[in-house]
Amino acid sequence: MTSLWWQTSAIYQIYPRSFQDTGDDGIGDLKGIERRLDYLAGLGVGAIWICPIYSSPMVDFGYDISDYCDVDPRFGTLADFDDLLGQAHRRGLKVLLDFVPNHSSDQHPWFVESCASRENQKRDWYIWHDPAADGGPPNNWISDFGGSAWEWDEVTGQYYYHAFLKQQPDLNWRHPGVQTAMYDVLRFWFDRGVDGFRIDVLWHLLKAADFPDNPPNPNYRPGMGDMHRLLQLHSTDQPEVHLIAAEMREIADSYGARGHGERVLIGEIYLPVDRLMHYYGGERPEMHLPFNFQLIDTPWRARSLAAVITGYEAALPPGGGPNWVLGNHDRPRVAAKRGQAQARVAAVLLLTLRGTPTLYYGDELGLSDVAIEPSQVQDPHELRQPGLALGRDPVRTPMPWDDSDNAGFTRAKPWLPLNDDWRTRNVMRMTEEPRSILMLYRRLLALRRDWPALSIGDFLLLKAEDEILIYARRHGSERLIVALNFGKRQHRLELPDWAHGSRLLLSTTEDAAPVETVAFLLRSNEAVVLEAR
Ligand code: NOJ
Repeated sequence: MTSLWWQTSAIYQIYPRSFQDTGDDGIGDLKGIERRLDYLAGLGVGAIWICPIYSSPMVDFGYDISDYCDVDPRFGTLADFDDLLGQAHRRGLKVLLDFVPNHSSDQHPWFVESCASRENQKRDWYIWHDPAADGGPPNNWISDFGGSAWEWDEVTGQYYYHAFLKQQPDLNWRHPGVQTAMYDVLRFWFDRGVDGFRIDVLWHLLKAADFPDNPPNPNYRPGMGDMHRLLQLHSTDQPEVHLIAAEMREIADSYGARGHGERVLIGEIYLPVDRLMHYYGGERPEMHLPFNFQLIDTPWRARSLAAVITGYEAALPPGGGPNWVLGNHDRPRVAAKRGQAQARVAAVLLLTLRGTPTLYYGDELGLSDVAIEPSQVQDPHELRQPGLALGRDPVRTPMPWDDSDNAGFTRAKPWLPLNDDWRTRNVMRMTEEPRSILMLYRRLLALRRDWPALSIGDFLLLKAEDEILIYARRHGSERLIVALNFGKRQHRLELPDWAHGSRLLLSTTEDAAPVETVAFLLRSNEAVVLEAR
């Protein structure tokens, strides 16, 4: 079986506000991404996913869209997008966009119409309800950003539902008009040549038709954030969502079938693995890749990680493409969670597990969470619930490119501060240091290209004890062994019989020990890839 591009490529997530500014306004833009395509091709990723670039009031930084088929002027124009796409394709890079179907901006003409009167033909494109008997919200559902998920509209005397900010009203996906309009959005971008979409909060799309109260969360503790007071039993993950996901897939597949090359759909879904697996589809295929976020939260210990990897492998449906994620624009950075030494080990893990890895921009530099002064906070999540460390600004700071002013990101004041150590932690400097984490990422991505076993080979757990995780990746005659040390002690490890005489292909440490015939020494915080011969 030949593998498809999205099974063998690494995906690189770009937060466009923070990648490269060319407009001198302190905000990144499409021309900036285009300027950095050679960097991305040189890094060795196969695809980029760009967070929303559409027209938006930017209350949730682009996840509040007022025109799904245009580019926000802050990021550029449709022509800039076409240029970027053409230039990316010329370099062999695929381009994925972010599709945000669950909610629009309250400034979207559809919602403006919907608010005009109860009789307006767009009224039911959003979710409107009469008040409860006491005049309060129709049910107890809580917005993911805190507070009731219902907003009262004085003019028409009903509440509307918003799973996120009140400026992000949820679309009513039970309405055929909404379905048609949103499928047309997919076609609009597919027709331009995009290679796929990451679909925002896919599991939120459908809500229980009768809107019952959500039950309390027995594990809620103060400090977790308001949304966690309830289990989102009735407001998310409803069976009908799978019909919609299958329709989206059919559209994507129709483009692949027309010879434009396979288009890929990736679902953003935060659910336990057993629920997640349903999003691959049943009789009808759904997502190519339901995002697998487990590495972000799993305790950083060999046994826990091994359990997650083997559990996930076992749960995958036949032919389901595995994928792995270490971070994104909503979650703490891997270097902040695991420390610099383990960020290198994490890179080896991410890029040697079976399936499609997604890298978050800046993680290849070991970028950590950047402290944001209260006066500089931008993220509505933090502004609405201050002090709970829910803010996402720390992981959305500008990409440091070099040691010139503002790290080469902008000639103006950057919209968020740079990392304190940008004069040394930047692309230019780290490219000059052979042992930098950036060069480790490059070597790992090159290794993945040279050894198909690393992307599509099978996975065999060999050992998971204390601080040590060892597994094999095998494809045809290729047999690789990956060993990771999550701790500070060194370990002498025996090789299995079939791996006697292995050769070291890559190590995260400068002074990697030579492999003896039957054993090797794994240093503190070291991860290695060996070829068994
Ligand atoms: C998920 C996105 O990743 C996040 O950044 C956004 O705030 C919410 N969806 C709402 O669109």
